[in-house]
Amino acid sequence: MSEPFRMKNNGQISIMLNVNKREKVKQLPNKGMSSKPLSHEHTVLNEIEAEMNALVGLDEIKKMMKEVYAWIYINKKREAAGLKAGQQVLHMMFKGNPGTGKTTVARLIGKLFQRMDVLPKGHLIEAERADLVGEYIGHTAQKTRDLIKKAAGGILFVDEAYSLGRGGEKDFGKEAIDTLVKHMEDKQNDFILILAGYSREMEYFLSLNPGLHSRFPLVFHFPDYTVNELMEIGKRMLNEKEYGLSKDAETKLKNHLLYVKAINADTFSNGRYVRNIIEKAIRSQAMRLLCEPNLERTILSSLLSEDFIFSEVE
Ligand SMILES: Nc1ncnc2c1ncn2[C@@H]1O[C@H](COP(=O)(O)OP(=O)(O)O)[C@@H](O)[C@H]1O
Ligand SMILES: [Mg+2]
Repeated sequence: MSEPFRMKNNGQISIMLNVNKREKVKQLPNKGMSSKPLSHEHTVLNEIEAEMNALVGLDEIKKMMKEVYAWIYINKKREAAGLKAGQQVLHMMFKGNPGTGKTTVARLIGKLFQRMDVLPKGHLIEAERADLVGEYIGHTAQKTRDLIKKAAGGILFVDEAYSLGRGGEKDFGKEAIDTLVKHMEDKQNDFILILAGYSREMEYFLSLNPGLHSRFPLVFHFPDYTVNELMEIGKRMLNEKEYGLSKDAETKLKNHLLYVKAINADTFSNGRYVRNIIEKAIRSQAMRLLCEPNLERTILSSLLSEDFIFSEVE
């Protein structure tokens, strides 16, 4: 298969995004759009791309956002030209470890869809199992419906969605899934549902609910960041807060990330981990400077290696 979209028998278009097919996905952006200058009509895309580019790495996700944009855009043009536009199913699955940028990207997708008139509001409602699942019969459907109501016109982002499938038949998680699926279909594109979670758990979850796979044609993979990417994420966070790292601090942080990533490979929380470490270092620096008589600009904005204190568990 050489093209990214495949017409299914039911007229639905799905984008092939599996890791196995990554090679093919990689070739896509050079076809068409990126080889020609974009017209002024594509300012929405340009704006979103600029925001995406502020994020470190995520190359595949960046390409996919462009593909989804192109797909919706051309579908609209086809409709205007009286051609079959095909039903757009925009519910998505985000697979990846914690802190890999899933919520951040979901927020950007909300903005993109709002600016493209796919969603009236484009806001993001984040939920997890406890927000959907109730304690008695009927409670779950009510809680889930309330959340869907809040998400109307925007995105309902269900984190660790696999936990809904954990308890088996008798668990109210199943009721939450059924309610979600029913509303997804009744209210086409009134809201967009994004299910997020660890890759392996999400695969298992989908295998328990055979009907679910086809309802989420867009699957985004969020890989773990490399240590260099994590350093870059950290530097951008610091830059934004008007702090900088001394050479020693940079080396210490990098070595620490190499170590933690290696020993906690399964639970490492990527960008969130970096954010936490930086926030902690900023507090340590403040403590260090409390007794410092000379508080000039460079001193106030420098984090030194001694500000990075790592406990055993980190
Ligand atoms: N590619 C990235 N570039 C810059 N910061 C990032 C990136 N990915 C994640 N972060 C930061 O890491 C933190 C966690 O990201 P988040 O989107 O909440 O991850 P997830 O939803 O996958 O757990 C946030 O502070 C976010 O700003
Ligand atoms: Mg998240």
